[in-house]
Amino acid sequence: MSVEHAAQFRKAIKIYDKTKSINENDLKTILTTGALAPSSNGLEPVKLIVIKDPKLKEQAAMTCFMAGNHQKVKDAPVLVLLLGANSTYLTSEEFLTKRLGRLFTGEILTKNINGISNYLKTYPNLDMFSDEQAHIVASFMTLQAADLKIGSSIMGGVTPTQAIPFFQEHNIVDTTKWHLALGLVFGYYDDNTPGTTFPRLRIATDEFVTIF
Ligand SMILES: Cc1cc2nc3c(=O)[nH]c(=O)nc-3n(C[C@H](O)[C@H](O)[C@H](O)COP(=O)(O)O)c2cc1C
Repeated sequence: MSVEHAAQFRKAIKIYDKTKSINENDLKTILTTGALAPSSNGLEPVKLIVIKDPKLKEQAAMTCFMAGNHQKVKDAPVLVLLLGANSTYLTSEEFLTKRLGRLFTGEILTKNINGISNYLKTYPNLDMFSDEQAHIVASFMTLQAADLKIGSSIMGGVTPTQAIPFFQEHNIVDTTKWHLALGLVFGYYDDNTPGTTFPRLRIATDEFVTIF
């Protein structure tokens, strides 16, 4: 499938077929493509938690998402929670050394860490810096899923504060370092089930784009 065709195929799925699972190879492909998403300064401030276990997924639905997303999360076979690095962790020497230490060493590394740290501190809300990168990862993953003819939903309707005790209870992630930014579900669906998708609505190209 071309990228254009994948973009046409992808729609926000509202009702999933809970009897159909996603095979391991396809899931791996979707996750690998997510990892290939670009990030500002190559910092990769995004981490994925994949939940397939039905009981844990149901608990995640109720604690990490707004009511309108509960059923989708319960029914879709794969839930992916996209976590963003918290502002203090993002600007820490520990995190920046991990990321920038892949490119630089010694004095140049120190200089780059200080430079990026100062740049990041100019952001009005640093949690949002990570969240922006999470959205790019989500785009890559949902397009990849479309290429495999797998349905997906991007869910900004998350409840990051309520998710903290859930993460802690199940030892999912260090909540001093990471917060819930975005949710994704993947699965199969039946287009003939009413309400599965909404009509495709887009503003006219000449309203969306101005070319000089
Ligand atoms: C950042 C973002 C957040 C979204 N959050 C939700 C959500 O919480 N729940 C939901 O059902 N759909 C959500 N959507 C889906 C949009 O409503 C949907 O993409 C839009 O209406 C266009 O429809 P289409 O994707 O089928 O073309 C979200 C989409 C994006 C990009």
